[in-house]
Amino acid sequence: MDQQNTARDLVWQSSQTSTQERRVLLKQSPVTLWMTGLSGAGKSTLAFHLEKRLIDAGHACFVLDGDNVRHGLNRDLGFSPHARTENIRRIAEVAKLMNAAGLIVITSFISPYRDDRSMAREIIGSDAFREVHISTTLQQCEHRDPKGLYQKARAGLISEFTGISAPYEPPIAPCLSLDTSASSVEACTERMLALIQPFLDETRR
Ligand code: ADX
Repeated sequence: MDQQNTARDLVWQSSQTSTQERRVLLKQSPVTLWMTGLSGAGKSTLAFHLEKRLIDAGHACFVLDGDNVRHGLNRDLGFSPHARTENIRRIAEVAKLMNAAGLIVITSFISPYRDDRSMAREIIGSDAFREVHISTTLQQCEHRDPKGLYQKARAGLISEFTGISAPYEPPIAPCLSLDTSASSVEACTERMLALIQPFLDETRR
């Protein structure tokens, strides 16, 4: 990859509008709710449920989901530690752009490494970054196995599979920890809504 272009011969171009003007326009403050957890933990289900609730309430928001982003922007990336880091770096940059556009962003990626999540927090900015651990246990995720991937990983048909043959480092101090085998989708969504309430303008509806 050509990394020569970073900073050299580039000049930042300024917008004629401000974050504050976008806040007023959209009646919300941008935030990225960063979900992390094992495959099958319930991240995508919760992300799209929360997105629907926010859209129904009149908030501009968008889900960045692992499987979906890997169909396009990140189709060139695999699951080695290096590739996962690049996956998370690109997603964080996209989330940052979407936040700059005024959107509320919900990300749904395993994001198994603490260092990668720290990098995402740094790129997005701590003020707009909220980490949520979808803490459903490996045992439960493997029991659910919605995509049949755990079975394949156990059979050795998928290498570097998170939880089986690749590590998952749980967050040490997440804003929220949600176990979808113990709480309903509705209950988990309410807790995430409460978490981002300060970013939502109540006068909207
Ligand atoms: S991450 O580790 O780089 O954050 P990401 O969330 O983008 O992962 O993608 C995870 C999804 O890719 C899983 O939900 C699963 O459907 C699929 N997948 C395919 N191979 C693997 C693997 N080796 N490890 C984990 N997930 C995999």
